[in-house]
Amino acid sequence: MTEVPEYLFERSRQRRIDLGLLDDDGGGTPSASGASEGGALASSGPSSADVIAAAKADAKLELQAESGIEPVWVSAARSRTKIPIWALPVMFFLPLWAFVYVKLTEPPPEPVTAITEGAATYAARCASCHTGTGAGSEGGGVGRPLYNGEVLLTFPKLEADMLHWLEVGSEGIGIGNAYGATDRPRGAHISGETGANMPGFGGALSEYKIYSVARYIREVLSEEQISDEKIAGRDAEWEALGGGKDLDGGGHGGGH
Ligand code: HEC
Repeated sequence: MTEVPEYLFERSRQRRIDLGLLDDDGGGTPSASGASEGGALASSGPSSADVIAAAKADAKLELQAESGIEPVWVSAARSRTKIPIWALPVMFFLPLWAFVYVKLTEPPPEPVTAITEGAATYAARCASCHTGTGAGSEGGGVGRPLYNGEVLLTFPKLEADMLHWLEVGSEGIGIGNAYGATDRPRGAHISGETGANMPGFGGALSEYKIYSVARYIREVLSEEQISDEKIAGRDAEWEALGGGKDLDGGGHGGGH
């Protein structure tokens, strides 16, 4: 049997008593007294009981130490701020909120005017031949130029003459027939003389749309100078024809 020095027993026993793990049965223990008396009485009864008690106490001590001290990473995980549970729905609805927010802050759609409607009609129906700026044949299109006051030379006034041209086109006027101002600089324009025909839009566009696109090419592309009074009169005319009534911008005469 291995001999354990008596002083070591005593030291660990005292430590356990201090920690409250072992009852101090008053005075010296049998092992302490026995050992001090007998010296090498290692296999004596009380001494081995003491060893068992010491082992048990050791196990207890270890258990306590284990539960008492936790690794730093565990305590760090315990103490750090956690994402609160209410953050989950917030994070879920955040993109939706952002979408709604952007939608709400967008400026409301511009009200439809004769000019905005005319611009839309021009882009959809006329720009393919007359180009976006109205340069027409001067800008690679097949149609006549409508910018730089050109259309105003052909049609000095926004009246039946011009609207009729837009409604019936080259063939409606009759190939070889003059249209517009007969006293136009460099001579009156003759239907079909460009070698290309302009289609009529009477069937495809409602009256107010023809009116508004006529205004667009005059007032915007050819920068017609007119009084506010005259503009007000044209707005009233456009409304009388049915302009600005359907909010979706589509015309009853629309379609292709
Ligand atoms: C398919 C091509 C084409 C389209 C689309 C077209 N045009 Fe033309 N446009 C022409 C051609 C070609 C002429 C010259 C007609 C001719 O020589 O008989 C012309 C002439 C005109 C003229 C007369 C200009 C002048 O000084 O003689 C006006 C005004 C005009 N177009 C307006 C329009 C408007 C407004 C639209 C759209 C609603 C439109 N055009 C769509 C080809 C087109």
